[in-house]
Amino acid sequence: MEQAMNESLDWLDEIIEGFGSSRTSLIPVLQSVQSKYRYLPEHVMSHISEKMALPLSNIYGVATFYAQFSTQPKGKHIVQVCDGTACHVRGAKDIISRIRKDFKLDAEKNTTDDKLLTLETVACIGACAMAPAVIVDGHVYGHMTPDKMMNIISEIKEEETNE
Ligand code: FES
Repeated sequence: MEQAMNESLDWLDEIIEGFGSSRTSLIPVLQSVQSKYRYLPEHVMSHISEKMALPLSNIYGVATFYAQFSTQPKGKHIVQVCDGTACHVRGAKDIISRIRKDFKLDAEKNTTDDKLLTLETVACIGACAMAPAVIVDGHVYGHMTPDKMMNIISEIKEEETNE
């Protein structure tokens, strides 16, 4: 979801007013932005910098430090494949390869063109007994296979077309 540079950011000004302009308000302000756009657009970070009188470098520092924030557009649905040791030896790479192949993704491009899906690899999620494990939109699935993974993604796509 690309936003126009000249869009109204009144909603954001209200949020900043609500939280206040102190440095400790930055995280909840960024969370609001992340929640709205699913990433932190550059022009919005510049606006925050100006409104909160914080250096843009500080905002980038926070935006790139916490995993909850992204400075790149993300898909509506997030598929996180665990590539920790237990999952790796039980086939995580096959799951990753299948998603990349079917959705024309690679190490540099991890979001589909239609912004439906973002593929991420993550370190151990604490579900090694169910390896290989994946997280789809916050839900953990274990004993995953490439085919099961594609079925889950197909269900997501089907739900989207029915909405
Ligand atoms: S290594 Fe994947 S859940 Fe632990």
